[in-house]
Amino acid sequence: MKVVQPMSWQEAYSNGLPLMDQTHQGFIEHFNTVLAASKNEQMAAFIELIKHTELHFDQENQWMSAIPDFPACHRAEHDRVLEVLLEIKKRTEKGDQHLFQTLIKELPLWFENHVNGMDAALAFHMSNIGFDPTQTSKNPSASKY
Ligand SMILES: [Fe+2]
Ligand SMILES: [Fe+2]
Repeated sequence: MKVVQPMSWQEAYSNGLPLMDQTHQGFIEHFNTVLAASKNEQMAAFIELIKHTELHFDQENQWMSAIPDFPACHRAEHDRVLEVLLEIKKRTEKGDQHLFQTLIKELPLWFENHVNGMDAALAFHMSNIGFDPTQTSKNPSASKY
């Protein structure tokens, strides 16, 4: 099996919205921590990635909620991804590593597609309508976790 490489921040990931970009940098850091963790530390690191992702999605969902008539598909994608993460956590805790390994392989690709697709569209729309993200934003780095 091909070894999964650590992710690194690229300018192409920037959506011109500092709060969003910082959160996405945080995702990359958490992902790399999971990747580098020993087997004993891996679940704790994965739980931290899930917590960060909950806040990450919550931040964007709040922005979308504050924009009238924003399409629901972006939030639905967040819900679906979180559901998958929690299901894989459950299965991994029961000793099934297979789905976890698949997830680790596929998360970087999902991240790129999501950040350059749905998140880019959200940031573009927010900028177009002059929406102030600091009004509704929780910053994941200052979270309760
Ligand atoms: Fe995002
Ligand atoms: Fe998103």
